[in-house]
Amino acid sequence: MRMKAAIMFEQGRPRPYAGSLPLVVEEVELDPPGPGEVLLEIAAAGLCHSDLSAIEGIRPRPLPIVIGHEGAGIVRELGEGVDDLRPGDHVVTVFVTSCGHCRYCVRGRPNICPSGFAARNAGTLMSGAKRISRLNGERINHGSGLSLFAQYAVVSRRAMVRIDPEVPLEDAAIFGCAVMTGAGAVLNTAGMQTGDSIAVVGLGGVGMNALFAAVAGGAERIVAVDANPEKLGLARQWGATDTFLATDADCAAEVREATGGGLDTVIETAGNIRAMELAYAITARGGSVVSAGLPAAGAEFSYQHAQLVSDEKSILGSYMGSCVPERDIPRFLGLYKRGKLPVERLKSGFIALEGINAGFDRLAEGSVLRQVLRPNG
Ligand SMILES: NC(=O)c1ccc[n+]([C@@H]2O[C@H](COP(=O)([O-])OP(=O)(O)OC[C@H]3O[C@@H](n4cnc5c(N)ncnc54)[C@H](O)[C@@H]3O)[C@@H](O)[C@H]2O)c1
Ligand SMILES: [Zn+2]
Ligand SMILES: [Zn+2]
Repeated sequence: MRMKAAIMFEQGRPRPYAGSLPLVVEEVELDPPGPGEVLLEIAAAGLCHSDLSAIEGIRPRPLPIVIGHEGAGIVRELGEGVDDLRPGDHVVTVFVTSCGHCRYCVRGRPNICPSGFAARNAGTLMSGAKRISRLNGERINHGSGLSLFAQYAVVSRRAMVRIDPEVPLEDAAIFGCAVMTGAGAVLNTAGMQTGDSIAVVGLGGVGMNALFAAVAGGAERIVAVDANPEKLGLARQWGATDTFLATDADCAAEVREATGGGLDTVIETAGNIRAMELAYAITARGGSVVSAGLPAAGAEFSYQHAQLVSDEKSILGSYMGSCVPERDIPRFLGLYKRGKLPVERLKSGFIALEGINAGFDRLAEGSVLRQVLRPNG
């Protein structure tokens, strides 16, 4: 079938993107779903900082590619062997497709299944297929086994979770990355307990979900840190007990002073080494830093080793919030329905495919939380 998609032919184009057009909207051909695959109509897709990193070129991708890894859609057609979904079902997409039987999957860690990472590096779906081609026949790579910056997507059955059709798809989309990553970092990776003290460093779409989860999970003290004062104001309205500006030269010392030596858990959701250094510095003795931010490939973080040992600090990576999507998407949607994960507050407006480059300019400026693409209007 024919559809419109936003194709990236080259990484590292200069800003403003509204002028340099790193994403080119083109009419393309989408193959029908193969065995174990599903055709989705994309209702909504969020613009995540990881997409921006792909555009900036700080994280390499196979080209040309259709990116977009946070979304929700409607099942339109089922490939051979898919018998547990029906056309019309609503789903949230999952950006790490998992095999279900490797040593990680069987231990409840499908978020780090090697098959998902292999497919992503190869620019394919789980099956090894590429389902999008240009009208001249050139094959296009898939981003994260999904390619959601398009009107439709053919993806593996394992790259989606069916949801309650009552949930607006524009909100549901955000569960596909920002909610799983932010709330999962707090509730899964950090295993936060009621009464813990916590800090979130980096208050974008991901960090705000970490903040919501900290409030929902009963954190006693919630410190919010960002380089942008406007984000601090929102964090205070949404439950932060203390806020600090990361650009203040003595920010780490101020946080340590105000909290009597730092926090039990610090979640880093900014995606750069300065933020990670700050996060480590404000972690209390015996505490954990959980990093979900993704800086440039090859960037290195260092720390004083003796202090790590004598303070018994832990440094943990968190990918897709250590989520088991079939378990956690319904769990987090349950919190959302009770108003405890107010994801709808994070929407910073809707955009069409033609407005996607300008949308990434706004994300790069730091002026928005989650912009939601509606590729079908
Ligand atoms: N681990 C995962 O599975 C996963 C999933 C999604 C996104 N990510 C990564 O998480 C990060 C956040 O994504 P997002 O979409 O929320 O981004 P965003 O651009 O919406 O938010 C980033 C926030 O960090 C703030 N910031 C930047 N530098 C800072 C510093 N030194 N100290 C404090 N705050 C600082 C910015 O002002 C901004 O508010 C990105 O690196 C993204 O690639 C990781
Ligand atoms: Zn993302
Ligand atoms: Zn696996």
